[in-house]
This record gives sequence, C-alpha cells and structure tokens, in this order.
Amino acid sequence: MYGWLRNGLFLLPPEMAHDVALNALSAGRFVGLPRLMGGCAHAAPVDLMGLHFPNPVGLAAGLDKNGDHMDALGALGFGFIEVGTVTPKPQPGNPKPRMFRLPEHQALINRLGFNNKGVDHLVRRLKSTRYRGIIGANIGKQKDTPVEEAAADYCHCLEKIYPHCDYVTVNISSPNTANLRELQDTGHLSEFLSELVTARDALAAEHGSRRPLLVKIAPDWDRTALIASLEVIGTSGIDGLITTNTTLDRTAVAGHRHAGEAGGLSGAPVKPLADDTLATARRTLGPDFPIIGLGGITRGEDAADKRRAGADLVQLYTGFIYRGPELISECIRSWQSVDETTA
Ligand SMILES: Cc1cc2nc3c(=O)[nH]c(=O)nc-3n(C[C@H](O)[C@H](O)[C@H](O)COP(=O)(O)O)c2cc1C
Repeated sequence: MYGWLRNGLFLLPPEMAHDVALNALSAGRFVGLPRLMGGCAHAAPVDLMGLHFPNPVGLAAGLDKNGDHMDALGALGFGFIEVGTVTPKPQPGNPKPRMFRLPEHQALINRLGFNNKGVDHLVRRLKSTRYRGIIGANIGKQKDTPVEEAAADYCHCLEKIYPHCDYVTVNISSPNTANLRELQDTGHLSEFLSELVTARDALAAEHGSRRPLLVKIAPDWDRTALIASLEVIGTSGIDGLITTNTTLDRTAVAGHRHAGEAGGLSGAPVKPLADDTLATARRTLGPDFPIIGLGGITRGEDAADKRRAGADLVQLYTGFIYRGPELISECIRSWQSVDETTA
C-alpha cells in the first residue's frame, strides 16, 4: 500500500510531499489508517535508561518537528518516537527549496535549518497527545544565538519540555545551523554538557523523576577528535548517545545533479560513516553506555548491522520515507535474528 502512495507523493516537491503525507496520516487515524499501514509489529522489548521500549525501532527526530502527528505516527508500530528539533522561539528555517530527493541513492539532502513552531507549541502538543508510548524530545538553539550562549537556549527548552516527555536529546550535530557543530568539540563540550546535566539534576529533584539526557552527534569526524569528544560525553553525566545525524560528505553521491546542494545528506550513503561512528562510540564508551544507532537504515539487514556494531536501539528517517512502515517490522525481525544468534 505504501509503495503505491509513495509513487503519488514523489510527484510532489519533497517538503510538500512530507506535509501532505503527515496530514493525511493524521486525518486517517480516525478510520484506523496508520494501524492498517503499519500492520502488526513484532515485539522485541528493550529495557534501557530506566525506560521500557516495546520494540527497538524508533522514529528519528526531524519528521515530526512540532509534535503535530504523534498519535498517527505512534500507531504505525514504532517502539518510540522522537519529536523536534525545537528551539526556544518559533523560527522559519532557511529559504525554500531546502529539501532534495536522490532516489537513485535512497537518499535526501536537507538544509531546513531548525524550522519549528517553538518549544511552547511542542509542550501543548505533548500535553494533549493520546499516544502512550515512549516520546523523546529533541532540542536545539535559535539560529541567532551565539555558540557561547547556546547552553541557555538548551536549558530553556529542557525546563519547558522536561515534565512532558520520556527522554531529551541534545542536538549539537545539525549541519544547517551555522557553527552548531562547534559544540561537539572538546573546547566547548565539557562546560556545555555540565550546564545541561546540572539543569537536568535540578529538574529531577523538582519533579521527583529523572529523565535521561542524550546527545546526538554527527558522522563527520576526524577519528582523534571523535574519541576525545566521546570521552568527554562518557564522563559528563549524560545518559546516552545517538549516532548519527546527516553528513556533509558527498563522496557516495558524487555526480548526482543534487550533490552540490548545501545541507546534510541522509539515507543509504550515510550508513558506512554512521556505522563507523557507532562502532567507535561502542569501543570508547564500553559495553554498558546506552547508544541509539541511526543513519542509513533502508533494509532490515541495516538494523542488524547496527545491532552488531553495538546499538541498543535504532531509529529511522530517510529509509522510512522510501520504504514506509513495512521497514519497521523488517528491522525488528532482523534485530531479533541477531539477538537469537548471539544468545
Ligand atoms: C528532512 C530531514 C530533517 C531532519 N531534521 C532533524 C532535526 O530537526 N533534528 C535532528 O536531530 N535530526 C534531524 N534530521 C536527521 C535525522 O534524524 C537522522 O539523524 C539522519 O537523517 C540520518 O538518518 P537516516 O539516514 O535514517 O535519515 C533530519 C533529517 C532529514 C532527512
């Protein structure tokens, strides 16, 4: 069913197709459309960071930036969904066009630039959602906030969102907000994370409940710098890692008519870089540090690769756009077969 719908959607410009698909899915939830499309997801529960995930396959941040479609997306069979990135105030993002399809590579390039309705809107949506599964909220900084003052933006979002979600992701790896990735470097990282962990600990005391704080990193690293930053993350009090965001590297799509578009490349071409970052993170952080593997999953076997590289959970974005909800159950089956082989 999704293949048929996708052929129609892919006739529209990518961002319009995205909005049409999400609005149709949300409208169709009253007649059970998401469940019909998602089919029956296999259970493979995971307990991690004090949370119970009904299955290990989640929706990555960026698809439902404002939390407007949680009920419909939650009914498709994901084990968890991550909404955002949101910033303290609404912002329009970059001028259009800012999203491009590379179907020959099962890939997308986007330079959306944290277009979102602001954290207060997301809080309202979280308060009213009927979805009872695990929800992560992904937070970022305003375009105009200098990197040196970024912690204040993240702490503002953290405070607002804290009582209304199950975990919070600190996004310091989008390539579409100028200088954001500087926060990943060891020069800023320790002090920045320490401010966030202190804020989270205060919120945990205030609300009597501790929400895990995760950091989402890029796939574009010099290895020495990556290991140095991972070591800072491992001792910072942060509870988990998400590897990875989109890549700036265009080697895998060289010659494609959209290869020269500015922005982050996602989908199949990012997988080798994302898997390598994941494996390095697992080696550096040890066997017990929670890691969510993300980047380039377009088949069940890709999720199995991430499991073998050390992921505790996975997330989907671009592969989900190309393959639809059947990718969720395919990934769960492949994940289970890795666990059965290694049990
Ligand atoms: C159109 C688009 C928008 C995205 N927006 C966000 C975002 O707001 N926040 C974020 O942390 N990641 C965002 N991402 C990155 C994805 O969550 C994911 O890290 C990346 O696409 C790699 O996974 P994939 O290959 O499965 O797509 C976005 C990706 C795409 C394609």
